[in-house]
Amino acid sequence: LHMKGRGSLVKYLRKVDSYLHRTIGTNVVSAQEEREGCKSLYAVQAERQEQAERSVLISCHTRTNEKKFLKYLSMHGDINKYFFYESYGMYAVVEFANRESLASLFEEAAIPIVSHESMVPFKSRLLSLRNLGSADPPNQQSGQRCQSQTTIPINELIQRLSKEGSIDQQMTSLTDVYQLTEENSRLRFLVCSLLKDIAAAYFPECTIKPFGSSVNGFGKLGCDLDMFLDLDGISGRNAKMPKSGFLLEYQMKQTNSERAVTQSILSVIGDCVDQFGPGCVGVQKILNARCPLVRFAHQPSGFQCDLTANNSFRSWSEWDVSWVQIRTAACQVAMKSTELLYLYGELDPRVRHLVFTVRCWARAHAITSSIPGAWITNFSLTVMVLFFLQRRSPSVIPTLDHLRDLAGPADKSFIEGNDCTFVSDFGKIHLQSNPETLERLLCEFFEFYATFPFNKMSISIRQGKELNKPEVAPLHIQNPFETTLNVSKNVNATQLDRFVALCKESSWLLQQTETSKARGGNVEKAPAPWGLASLLVPLQVAVTKGRKKRRPEPASERIKSLLASLKNPNQQKKS
Ligand code: CTP
Ligand code: MG
Repeated sequence: LHMKGRGSLVKYLRKVDSYLHRTIGTNVVSAQEEREGCKSLYAVQAERQEQAERSVLISCHTRTNEKKFLKYLSMHGDINKYFFYESYGMYAVVEFANRESLASLFEEAAIPIVSHESMVPFKSRLLSLRNLGSADPPNQQSGQRCQSQTTIPINELIQRLSKEGSIDQQMTSLTDVYQLTEENSRLRFLVCSLLKDIAAAYFPECTIKPFGSSVNGFGKLGCDLDMFLDLDGISGRNAKMPKSGFLLEYQMKQTNSERAVTQSILSVIGDCVDQFGPGCVGVQKILNARCPLVRFAHQPSGFQCDLTANNSFRSWSEWDVSWVQIRTAACQVAMKSTELLYLYGELDPRVRHLVFTVRCWARAHAITSSIPGAWITNFSLTVMVLFFLQRRSPSVIPTLDHLRDLAGPADKSFIEGNDCTFVSDFGKIHLQSNPETLERLLCEFFEFYATFPFNKMSISIRQGKELNKPEVAPLHIQNPFETTLNVSKNVNATQLDRFVALCKESSWLLQQTETSKARGGNVEKAPAPWGLASLLVPLQVAVTKGRKKRRPEPASERIKSLLASLKNPNQQKKS
């Protein structure tokens, strides 16, 4: 603990604290001390990135013997961490203690012999392990336990939540089941690192960083992997003042717009990923979007990937701009909002539980979708939850303006003239003491948005209050950093109406004693959905003989049958 510093000490004390709290009702770590021990997103990212660079991804036979596998790889150096998982076959992520071990491993790796096809001679850290000797027979215990990289289906989740004793427990349990695991997070950084090896062929100083739900603390297992090709390392920011009468410059090709540069970089990298990237399939270049991107599937990890790039590469250097970081591009703003969401999620555990719950509820009722369209997005929904928490009295989390006021000189950040400054030192943030339970917050969330004046007002987490709508749009959520933009511009009136109707229905359901209280009883029997579980029961869409879908049952019918099923669980309809 002494070696690892204050962060680990606080983590350890937090465990002791939670034990004492459960057993004798005493806390040893204050919420403030917990916040002081929190690592910034940058620190977490730097650590994960470094681990990823010492790691390899190995496709192996399902019957590979774990002990022999480890013994074989350990010949190249100490292994810090490894795990197995399944995705179109079995894979292992292996993190060595030192980078030199990778070089030693590669010296031994052979080029596969194929008779009919040709190969692209690009070597990467994605390898295959062949069993030359006899593989273990099927009935012999090979030992390795596969880590799941996906979540359980919604019906299973409903059953699991129904066994919990309170709505608060249901919400924490939902977060536990859905959140990214340590292993999944490592895999995400490893995929970024593997792609960096491809991009580095053109831009050796580049890095590829994950953003969005992979790192903001609100990611669900199976969520897409948003990546950002960062070329900042190439720019002349670190150039020193010329000491002699000479200044040596690189000759560089010039184009007429930064956007055009981003598009051509992504186009070239997209082609490389498509043609040289092992395991990368279905590459699509979407270069005309506001934030140009390359989309593809990374088969060995099972991740759907979106790669964007910054175009902040400019010919200015340290002596031009010394006091603030001036950066350009919409994608840079996305990085900032990722950092902000991460901070809010770390401030109070209720933030993450409520966001996970609302996201899951919205997905169960098709309020959100994996297909782009006129629906509310997870990002918009998260901002709505944050806004609601700012509006509680006393507030659960502070406004963005308050976080900006707490910022130090090193936190200053401007992106295309937008002030993206906010405090990075969690210890400076003092929260108001709001004692509300998760159950209460969930009920109030539904109530709040069931009656919110969407026709006139806009949602602003910067100011933490409703603002007059500056433009006509069914749902107006101010972009926290580009305040003239609407985060939910895509949402149409029908989708907003569905959201409001479901908030009303869910608020009503939670107030019914039949659905809001745990019904105890026989633990072995599957209990009927109650509390949060009853809110996740999907709308029942009956399928007629001709496979034609009928209109969904009206909400009142659904609720009636749900209440009937609670009175008599055996007659519960299958959904
Ligand atoms: N983003 C943004 N402004 C938007 C949309 C997105 O700043 N109008 C940023 C947010 O930081 C968001 C990230 O881009 O987290 C990635 O967007 P997206 O993939 O749509 O959202 P996620 O938060 O990653 O959620 P999901 O799990 O649905 O992918
Ligand atoms: Mg995403």
